[in-house]
Amino acid sequence: MSDPLYINGRFTTTDERIIGAEDRGLQFGDGVYEVLKFKSRTPLFANTHFVRFERGLTALGIEIPWNLTTFTSLCSELISRGSIEEGIVYFQVTRGEGERTHLFPEGMKPTAIAYTRRMPFPDAEKKASGIRAISFDDLRWRLCHIKSTNLLGSVLAKQKARESGAVEALLHDGGEIREGANSSFFAVREDTLLTHPLTERILPGTVREKVLMLARDAGIWVEERPIRLDELRELDEAFMTSTTQAVMPIIDIDGHAVSNGKRGILTERLQRLFDDLELKEFV
Ligand code: PDD
Repeated sequence: MSDPLYINGRFTTTDERIIGAEDRGLQFGDGVYEVLKFKSRTPLFANTHFVRFERGLTALGIEIPWNLTTFTSLCSELISRGSIEEGIVYFQVTRGEGERTHLFPEGMKPTAIAYTRRMPFPDAEKKASGIRAISFDDLRWRLCHIKSTNLLGSVLAKQKARESGAVEALLHDGGEIREGANSSFFAVREDTLLTHPLTERILPGTVREKVLMLARDAGIWVEERPIRLDELRELDEAFMTSTTQAVMPIIDIDGHAVSNGKRGILTERLQRLFDDLELKEFV
């Protein structure tokens, strides 16, 4: 499918082959990406996505080619060039193209791309029925707070989930669940909302941040601590959050029902609060 595509200052479409054989994104996963969603042709939470994008690139010593204003207007430009009502804008900046060497080559010019993609977001039925998850070894590198294009650990976990009849893999290491392969993980135990604290082992999810804010504002007790692998069977509720899935109930982990295989009460409440927050972006 052809969608509007931005590459290093010019516009084309996703039909054009654009990446050089020695781009460091291709050879080393040496880059950072960002995914934001738009609904009714309006980008959501661009500010939060930009801040994370900039932090990740700075941490890797890659220059970001945008500021918040140019980033936001690029989103709008891509959306207006296409005909999609709802979907995502995918951004990626790599260190650039240069003769293959592990060292940073001299005088690198980053490769910056951005394009839109149609994406169906979960409807009311899907949001109510939830998804199944498995637990899986966290095979990723140690700087998971950077949204790097180095995603093989997550790719293998996600594929394993699919082959097990599930949708998400909950990644654990040292007996602790970190997060989902491409989502943040939350649980409820005895009326307390639990999620992993912000460390280098998880991505600071944009939806995670907003759900925590909404929960605290609503007077829900929140504890940011890792959920242990051996606690999974004792959870009252579980859900994952991400830009594309918003707040998605987890009703089964490793073949064991969570909250009797139904969406939990607190999960449903947070789903509503988050949906309302998204709606406010349109006014
Ligand atoms: N992934 N943790 C990981 C490892 C992720 O890849 C993602 C999102 C999240 C949730 O972040 P946010 O709430 O900002 O979407 C947490 C994106 C959507 C992806 O890779 O497609």
